[in-house]
Amino acid sequence: MDMSSLPKRVRKDFPILQREVHGKPLVYLDNAASAQKPLAVIEGQREYLSNYHANIHRGAHHLAQLATEAYEGGRRKIAEHIGAPHTEGIIFTSGSTDAINLVAQAWGRTNLQSGDTVLVTQMEHHANIVPWQMVCAERGAQVVPAAVLEDGTLDLDDFKRLLELHQPKMAAFVHASNTLGTINPVADLCTLAKAAGATTLVDGSQALPHLAIDVQAIGCDFYVATGHKAYGPTGIGFLYGKQAQLEAMPPWRGGGEMIKSVSFDGTTFNGLPHKFEAGTPHISGGIALGIAIDWINGIGTPAIAAHEQALVQHAHAALGTLKGLRIIGTAPHKVGVVSLVVDGLHPYDLGTLLDGQGIAVRTGHHCTEPLMQHLGLESGTLRISFAAYTTREEIDRTVIALDRAMQMLS
Ligand code: ALA
Repeated sequence: MDMSSLPKRVRKDFPILQREVHGKPLVYLDNAASAQKPLAVIEGQREYLSNYHANIHRGAHHLAQLATEAYEGGRRKIAEHIGAPHTEGIIFTSGSTDAINLVAQAWGRTNLQSGDTVLVTQMEHHANIVPWQMVCAERGAQVVPAAVLEDGTLDLDDFKRLLELHQPKMAAFVHASNTLGTINPVADLCTLAKAAGATTLVDGSQALPHLAIDVQAIGCDFYVATGHKAYGPTGIGFLYGKQAQLEAMPPWRGGGEMIKSVSFDGTTFNGLPHKFEAGTPHISGGIALGIAIDWINGIGTPAIAAHEQALVQHAHAALGTLKGLRIIGTAPHKVGVVSLVVDGLHPYDLGTLLDGQGIAVRTGHHCTEPLMQHLGLESGTLRISFAAYTTREEIDRTVIALDRAMQMLS
């Protein structure tokens, strides 16, 4: 497929891309924070809420059956999409943050002892740092970060050194960085971590919208992702776990649905995946995330990845012409994320001027404050991030607007 034809083909699926902001056509380059929704996802939620809403699993009636089938269908689609060997290994959560908290609490409280280490990297999102800090504080364990090199790649030597030094119980790392765009060699990292005796968790929040994922090829124990960055709704995401790991973990949240039987003498817990899904879930979210996955597969992850790769190269080249502008994160393998800083100017001031031109970007630390500290970027960066519908023209318009903004603020 001619890659430039991809946006032409898919833009019509996204109603929001027709709108103007401040009297200018919207250029939406904040996809790493949250992607826009195709009509199929919007309609899928409307259809459920209008025609077959009911609580799932327990109803004896037709609507409950329809809702259950659709929700469990969403789970099956996720399992197939990421190559999970068993559908029961997909636990619906409210997002990646919730999924990592689940593992940190259910796995961490069982497996971490005083003096143990959780190895992460300096490029982690707060969601893959803070839950580990919380459980480590409780257990008397520690969180140790592997270094990131100047170009935004992970320092593999440091990763290996820390594995050897600490023999961590858990190694948790991001598949693709939301701030730098760096794609980590997660299968290699899992092999190294496993050889050192560590359990592994991969944060796939920025991988799901951009890359093909195969959890068995990666070889991780846990993989998490969120729906809203992958064209799905907010408030829904998932945890994949190897069956043996999930079976061995105690439940985290208690309540309805996660039990087999309850009495005041004691409670027995439900099997997978329900053991970890207490209470009525985000039913429309699970259904719509399945539809979002269908949408991604209708395009194909190779086409999306190649399109975004071409956009990254185009953006790097075009931004490179602006004097005083520095791209933060130039790793050879990147998803569609480009962070930048301009000497002497605050990212927020630049972002505000871009907004005036209808261009939506994100500024700040992108929930990666330790990475910003490591890179000496206390004010953070300005980040543009791409999706299947992003065009070269939008990037060109952004570069022109940035050039003007830099001149105005200098
Ligand atoms: N973590 C999200 C981002 O990268 C919100 O912008």
